[in-house]
Amino acid sequence: MQAETALSLTLIAIFIKCYNGFAQTPPLFVSPFPGIGPDQIYGQSGVIPPPPTAPPGLTLLGFPQLPPPPVVPFIVTPTTQLPPGYVCVPIGTCNPNNGIDIRIVTPGNTPPCPPGQVPCFGTAGGSQCGLRFVSPINTTDGFATPGAYPWQAYLVNQTGYAGSGVLLDQYTVLTAAHKVYMNSGTPEMLGVYMGVYDTTRLGTRYTVDRVYLHPNFNPSNLFNDLALLRLATPITPVTQTYINTICLPTQGQSFVGQTCTISGWGRTSFDVGDAPTLLQKQVQVPIVSYTTCYNSMSNSSLLGSNVNTYLDPIGELCAGGQAARDACTQDGGSPLVCNVNGRFTLAGLVIWGKGCGQPGVYGVYVNVANYVTWITNATSMLTG
Ligand SMILES: *[C@@H]1O[C@H](CO)[C@@H](O)[C@H](O)[C@H]1NC(C)=O
Ligand SMILES: *[C@@H]1O[C@H](CO)[C@@H](O)[C@H](O)[C@H]1NC(C)=O
Ligand SMILES: *[C@@H]1O[C@H](CO)[C@@H](O)[C@H](O)[C@H]1NC(C)=O
Ligand SMILES: *[C@@H]1O[C@H](CO)[C@@H](O)[C@H](O)[C@H]1NC(C)=O
Repeated sequence: MQAETALSLTLIAIFIKCYNGFAQTPPLFVSPFPGIGPDQIYGQSGVIPPPPTAPPGLTLLGFPQLPPPPVVPFIVTPTTQLPPGYVCVPIGTCNPNNGIDIRIVTPGNTPPCPPGQVPCFGTAGGSQCGLRFVSPINTTDGFATPGAYPWQAYLVNQTGYAGSGVLLDQYTVLTAAHKVYMNSGTPEMLGVYMGVYDTTRLGTRYTVDRVYLHPNFNPSNLFNDLALLRLATPITPVTQTYINTICLPTQGQSFVGQTCTISGWGRTSFDVGDAPTLLQKQVQVPIVSYTTCYNSMSNSSLLGSNVNTYLDPIGELCAGGQAARDACTQDGGSPLVCNVNGRFTLAGLVIWGKGCGQPGVYGVYVNVANYVTWITNATSMLTG
């Protein structure tokens, strides 16, 4: 029945993200539900927990008939670490839908998390997205605090620094299509670095397996400027001091009127070729309505009547307009994030502007909230 199916799907998601035990053998995952892809942890490599077993009274739908997986409880010693990809979260917060926590309670064992917390698999939909793990944070426009933007990816191509992106889960980086479409046939030329602050210390390079462009990306006016990068190997654990996923907004969520933050290594002014900058920078920008942006861009000193060619009322949003506070050339794909109840949520990705930091001239960003359905679907397709 419909309702029962829906309930079970929710539970599947909860179980996969919160599962506490481990199988020795990675099982196959085949989702029988159209549009519902396997969870990120059912990837090609890495630690693969088994499908969960249902608690008494509930039936899990949609899993193939497999023998019950061997369940290995956490072996707890004073040095026990959380398994890769898992983080400790308060009980009840493991799933964004506020579901249940499945635990294997073994008498005599000390749990790997502090009292009141449970292990939870960290993904973009999981409870750790959009959190920072460093403090204090200097919020003044200028140099960022190391670790303040743990979701920001530093992208390189065959000629070096290419731009930025943002981590959605252990396998997936979202970026602006215009930064990577030249490499859509040569994904191996692209590299992703996470946890970067100082661009002379990049750390581990992750290879890109696949560039998935938005099917309606238009390189001539940069409409639908989105691409997903699928990594060849997962980032494990996906939650580290300087690395984390960003939260996606809900489809259609509006951020107009909020002041949000962009971070990146792009030029410090339009005519100075200093990207990537040595250190990561940040700036706060107010998000304005489409009408405000349209009226400004319509000025003949900016786009004039070409505004209709270059400004997309649905797929783009505008922010900034204050002197010397702006994204600039080579910031493409950098995340514009808003603090929503203590979690940073992805409102935009840098696309284009007219000059940089001119008063009254807004920066133009992908309106991520209007692409959430596409992002979620495409991510699950890439993973499947
Ligand atoms: C905060 O950042 C600003 C801009 O980079 C800098 O001028 C200021 O010294 C920083 N404050 C502290 C306490 O580090
Ligand atoms: C690499 O990225 C830079 C910065 O976006 C760009 O100027 C350059 O054309 C890219 N190289 C290739 C081969 O696409
Ligand atoms: C158009 O831009 C010019 C120069 O930036 C400015 O002086 C003028 O007031 C603007 N016009 C409107 C209608 O905003
Ligand atoms: C999801 O993506 C697949 C592959 O790109 C596409 O065929 C399908 O129509 C998409 N579904 C939705 C609901 O967007």
